[in-house]
Amino acid sequence: MERLTSPPRLMIVSDLDHTMVDHHDPENLSLLRFNSLWEHAYRHDSLLVFSTGRSPTLYKELRKEKPLLTPDITIMSVGTEITYGNSMVPDHGWVETLNNKWDLGIVKEETSKFPELKLQAETEQRPHKVSFYVDKSKAHTVTKELSQRLEKRGLDVKLIYSGGMDLDILPQGAGKGQALAFLLKKLKTEGKLPVNTLACGDSGNDAELFSIPDVYGVMVSNAQEELLKWHAENAKDNPKVIHAKERCAGGIIQAIGEFKLGPNLSPRDVSDFLECKAENVNPGHEVVKFFLFYERWRRGEVENCEAYTASLKASCHPSGVFVHPSGAEKTLRDTIDELRKYHGDKQGKKFRVWVDQVLATETTPGTWIVKLDKWEQSGDERRGCTTTVKFTSKEGEGLVWEHVQQTWSEESKVKNDSSWII
Ligand code: GLC
Ligand code: MG
Repeated sequence: MERLTSPPRLMIVSDLDHTMVDHHDPENLSLLRFNSLWEHAYRHDSLLVFSTGRSPTLYKELRKEKPLLTPDITIMSVGTEITYGNSMVPDHGWVETLNNKWDLGIVKEETSKFPELKLQAETEQRPHKVSFYVDKSKAHTVTKELSQRLEKRGLDVKLIYSGGMDLDILPQGAGKGQALAFLLKKLKTEGKLPVNTLACGDSGNDAELFSIPDVYGVMVSNAQEELLKWHAENAKDNPKVIHAKERCAGGIIQAIGEFKLGPNLSPRDVSDFLECKAENVNPGHEVVKFFLFYERWRRGEVENCEAYTASLKASCHPSGVFVHPSGAEKTLRDTIDELRKYHGDKQGKKFRVWVDQVLATETTPGTWIVKLDKWEQSGDERRGCTTTVKFTSKEGEGLVWEHVQQTWSEESKVKNDSSWII
């Protein structure tokens, strides 16, 4: 958050499973579309918040499985754990407020009296969250009875039913909505209240997100019955909440457009972006577009025409150097020549490229340093490189690639780095 010097233009607070992530799409297309849009148009001045029911353990697993961006803030375990930044620094202040009228021992004792409740995995039991599976047909009666019993024992809890199977028991002050309200308050005191906030979700535990004042909301097209029912009963007349026509991240992009929150054309939806180069002298855009081109080139989705590579070479400084993660150096122009040989080598294969945390800084007038993480998924293997690009630009001319340097990301255990091009 420190990187922002003024209030964020947009804060997206999104659920992950079946909202940001479409588990029915093995290609992750809508997520990849969202990713390019975010890095292209929002990363530099906006905040990305993930708000998931998952514990830190299952959240980290999902990150390995899916091409998720790195959020600025991560809210896990149904709003009971808030962390900041890449190193996920916990908000201890938030945790303290959750101890009010909460006693894990009593919750465990009372719930053990209900044979209908099946305890979820150990990783999902957290200091302020106890989770079960319960059959849809029994959920209503069980929740009612259980909440009365816990109240009698002096606790003030919240029971949330999600996805037609999960029952979470949390302190009354917890939940995704309360966590968002807490975050907004915190940002406000820091003078960084977002200009707009968009909450995105699909299931019961997301309902609270849509009742926070002044927040736009999108229920993705594939939203669960329990969320749509909650909406019909509680928020039907709120024009700031829509039920999208598109699934998952596609619905988020749709909502950005409908609420006019900013650009909503993902670079992935533009077929020929090298054409519109001249008008654009934004170094962050340049990098997003280049790696998208790189993916399409290797997938054989762009024509193998000389004009493309010639235009790329023309935008590289003649003596510009690329430092490969192996440490080997060659000129940028030679690197483009090498790329030419790989046209279509990933055709029909599982091959995707995405960039994360693209941040550009103008170091001296006309000189830019862009830092980003570049990821490449090839079959079942995923590799990433921390990448630094230096650009220069002269009045009236486009950006010139001066230098590119890559080092393997910590998560990438690379045995053979010869197959990595850039
Ligand atoms: C995630 C969590 C689970 C929780 C569910 C609904 O799936 O892993 O513990 O019950 O979200 O909030
Ligand atoms: Mg969900």
